[in-house]
Amino acid sequence: MSNKVITLERYIIEGERSHPGATGNFSGVLRDLSLAIKIIWREVTKAGLVNILGMAGSENIHGESQKKLDIFADETIFKAMDHTGHLAVMGTEEHDDILPIPDKYPIGKYVLLFDPLDGSSNIEANVSVGTIFSVYRRISQVGKGMLMDCIQPGYKQIASGYVVYGSSTMLVYTTGDGVHGFTLDPSIGEFLLSHENIRIPSRGKIYSVNEGNYRYWTDGVKKYIKHLQEEDAPTHRPYSARYIGSLVADIHRTLLYGGIFLYPADTRFPDGKLRLMYEGNPLAMIVEQAGGAAVDGSRRILDVVPTRLHQRTPVFMGSIDDVADCQRFVCAGC
Ligand code: AHG
Ligand code: MN
Ligand code: MN
Repeated sequence: MSNKVITLERYIIEGERSHPGATGNFSGVLRDLSLAIKIIWREVTKAGLVNILGMAGSENIHGESQKKLDIFADETIFKAMDHTGHLAVMGTEEHDDILPIPDKYPIGKYVLLFDPLDGSSNIEANVSVGTIFSVYRRISQVGKGMLMDCIQPGYKQIASGYVVYGSSTMLVYTTGDGVHGFTLDPSIGEFLLSHENIRIPSRGKIYSVNEGNYRYWTDGVKKYIKHLQEEDAPTHRPYSARYIGSLVADIHRTLLYGGIFLYPADTRFPDGKLRLMYEGNPLAMIVEQAGGAAVDGSRRILDVVPTRLHQRTPVFMGSIDDVADCQRFVCAGC
């Protein structure tokens, strides 16, 4: 058992050395982001305490602390990144428009898109929540970054990742060279390498979908889920159902155990509920880099050419054989 302690910092630097072209700027983005994540971790883990303290005004505090946490996480990431000189522009789920870099700060060559707090409706139940991020190179030539820099197809991402604030807090990211997981050691405030080169099993035994939406699904999705519940399911026994309702937690489990996560389009959400730029693309890059598949029902999520910053996408992602089976049911035209 190697007792080598490899911090995120060391892993990034060693990664840089193995990529001669790396200029170190990109490593700065990850480094600065990890500071913001630690600050969010501190507040997210304290949220329960606040609720207890706030029981007197539970309804008010309870509701506001959620909103506060979404906004707190959003502001924390922006403030940790806006002055670093690495970014040309940012985009976040919490703001309709792109976030320009303030005039007083230098402009960089990267674009950061993020979902600052994912699954926040679960906070008061102490269910895992997360942060999701995605990094692109700017395509505009000079000056502040623009909308066109923030709506690039997912295959243009140079890095993506997520944090799951759970029983332990893990940062999982890829720069296109495999998927690596770091666990936060609160006693030293460092993310330590704990899951190098995560690979998703080619097939799992778990499906993850909100079955409360059954009546809104297409026939294809209904038939696929029924198929998984039958004796002759691909592994000759029905799959288990697991649905946490925090995308990051559901994807993290799917990445480690295999299986499939679905948030299909339905009669309420014709384009699906999840966001392409902040949820679909970053997690699709992670799942594909771990050897899995991520589609919108008919094509790779990473191939979708965005037209709007907040556009939504159906999501089917996980083990490559499970996603292939699913597509046979849900993709009529494939
Ligand atoms: P967010 O908290 O960033 O808005 O994301 C919530 C998303 C995602 O985390 C989860 O997979 C999905 O909402 C759950 O939606 P349902 O409650 O409709 O199942
Ligand atoms: Mn989200
Ligand atoms: Mn969110």
